[in-house]
Amino acid sequence: MAIILTLFTFLAISQTLYSSHAASPPAPTVCIIGSGIGGSSAAHFLRHYSPNSAPPIKIRMFERNDVVGGRMATVNVAGETFEAGASILHPKNYHARNYTKLLDLEFRTSLSDSLSLGIWDGKKFVFKTLEIDSNIPFVDKVVSLANSVLLFFRYGLSLFRMGSFVEKTVDRFLKYYDEPASRPIFETVDEMLKWGGLYNLTTRTLQDELVDAGLSPLLIKELVTVITRINYGQSVYISGLAGAVSLAGSGGGLWSVKGGNWQMAAGLINQSDVSLHLHEEIESVANLGDYYELNSTKGNSYTCEVAVVATPLDELNIQFIPPISIPKRKLQHTHATFVRGLLNPAYFGLNAVTDIPELVGTVEDPDLPFTCISVLKKHDEKDATYKMFSRQSLSDALLDSVFSVRKETIRINWGAYPHYDAPEVFAPFILDNRHLYYINAFENAASTMETSAVAAENIVRLILSRYFGKITLHSSNLSAGSHIEGSHIDL
Ligand SMILES: Cc1cc2nc3c(=O)[nH]c(=O)nc-3n(C[C@H](O)[C@H](O)[C@H](O)COP(=O)(O)OP(=O)(O)OC[C@H]3O[C@@H](n4cnc5c(N)ncnc54)[C@H](O)[C@@H]3O)c2cc1C
Ligand SMILES: *[C@@H]1O[C@H](CO)[C@@H](O)[C@H](O)[C@H]1NC(C)=O
Ligand SMILES: *[C@@H]1O[C@H](CO)[C@@H](O)[C@H](O)[C@H]1NC(C)=O
Ligand SMILES: *[C@@H]1O[C@H](CO)[C@@H](O)[C@H](O)[C@H]1NC(C)=O
Ligand SMILES: *[C@@H]1O[C@H](CO)[C@@H](O)[C@H](O)[C@H]1NC(C)=O
Ligand SMILES: *[C@@H]1O[C@H](CO)[C@@H](O)[C@H](O)[C@H]1NC(C)=O
Repeated sequence: MAIILTLFTFLAISQTLYSSHAASPPAPTVCIIGSGIGGSSAAHFLRHYSPNSAPPIKIRMFERNDVVGGRMATVNVAGETFEAGASILHPKNYHARNYTKLLDLEFRTSLSDSLSLGIWDGKKFVFKTLEIDSNIPFVDKVVSLANSVLLFFRYGLSLFRMGSFVEKTVDRFLKYYDEPASRPIFETVDEMLKWGGLYNLTTRTLQDELVDAGLSPLLIKELVTVITRINYGQSVYISGLAGAVSLAGSGGGLWSVKGGNWQMAAGLINQSDVSLHLHEEIESVANLGDYYELNSTKGNSYTCEVAVVATPLDELNIQFIPPISIPKRKLQHTHATFVRGLLNPAYFGLNAVTDIPELVGTVEDPDLPFTCISVLKKHDEKDATYKMFSRQSLSDALLDSVFSVRKETIRINWGAYPHYDAPEVFAPFILDNRHLYYINAFENAASTMETSAVAAENIVRLILSRYFGKITLHSSNLSAGSHIEGSHIDL
């Protein structure tokens, strides 16, 4: 009798469930907005952590552009391909390394290690290293040793203190690669950073952290400033954590994916059984109770049980119903300008082009029109491809004074990364206490390809435990009955 009653109730519930879900597809759908490294990592880890989930998860991904990769993109100058956005990876960026291996892509060691460096203050080079221009490894070694000596003469022991500050931070970050079994699932960025021992670094400026670490004012004003300006377009008043990450991006062993870092996103998406909607921008996300309705500028409407925002929301007009509230955040814009031609030595008060360092960094001075200039490729003595970063767009008049020859110019205006402010305030990973998630909340800690992957991995574990937990934990044999199991026990 009891059995019959239970069975009857079960059928009744399952019927109501079926009818109330008549409009939505039978398998749960995860919608991902954005196809950069964050969105593509989310798709990858959804498959990785629930390879045979029952019912199978459907993944839809939306990308407003007609290519995937987001801020990983290449630019073509005179038939050659260069990174236009995110370019360098750290040797300990383990997700990116694994993706590169998994996808059979090629590692390319970064040239920036061996570029000669000059620090330009608007009037003169306050510091210059020697140029390594030989193809003889022994000579290269001697020159790089001489450069270490030059750096040591100018900045002294502070250099080692800077190194140990960076190393300590990188080591703490490695905790996020611990086995999932021994690593908590984080519901907030704050909690995630506290667990890693990194939260305090977001409450103070890099400047304050480095002074406490015993660095000399000269090192902070020159070399450190050059690096934060190149990597985040900002001064040493960014947070200590963003600062440590940008300093880590100036060490040795840096690499990139041959042919373009965007291929990581393309490969992960290709391998993760994703319905990819290119050139389709999501303009509204409405919470309709059991599911979300995503409407696109193409006039299409999609329903999904879980929605993941994998793009910064700061400059977007996505309408959330009901509205969500996140802390205000400004994006730092970085203008990347690519020039094929030749630098003008007179602009730098020099006689010969060969006297201009291959990487020109700058100190913090509002009158300086650009942040850095680097040689990407020397075609011959009178022809090279350069990349410049600046906070504002560079006028033709300015470029004509910096370059003596300019055959081709390409300008890209990136909403590049957050404008960092200590103490940082973080948006939540879970935007609505239900199943609307935000990977880019983590960008206020630091914005890199790897941190996006790390944040995406945590968010996938959060989704699987909060939404699919019921299914995977109870592993019911009834494909549509898994939700009922819970109510069943209550009867
Ligand atoms: C100039 C520059 C240099 C950098 N250098 C480095 C570096 O050397 N190393 C490093 O690790 N990082 C670097 N970064 C940072 C790095 O690019 C980012 O941290 C990382 O790529 C962010 O990835 P993401 O997937 O989170 O976001 P994104 O790559 O921005 O992806 C978001 C995607 O969402 C799409 N989208 C937005 N709104 C919608 C919508 N409504 N509907 C559909 N699609 C939408 C966008 O078109 C985009 O493709 C650099 C960034 C810039 C700009
Ligand atoms: C990278 O791949 C190796 C080998 O498959 C694995 O042991 C390691 O855990 C992976 N690292 C990360 C960060 O996923
Ligand atoms: C962070 O700061 C708090 C308060 O100043 C302190 O108690 C804590 O030990 C610090 N944590 C780390 C990891 O340094
Ligand atoms: C997708 O992956 C398959 C193998 O899994 C490969 O043959 C194909 O070339 C890939 N496509 C793209 C666009 O990367
Ligand atoms: C989304 O599209 C559906 C179907 O066209 C429509 O009923 C709904 O009002 C739209 N939602 C918003 C927020 O525009
Ligand atoms: C699912 O089926 C298998 C064998 O068919 C059985 O051993 C298992 O107990 C079932 N699981 C549930 C949750 O009913």
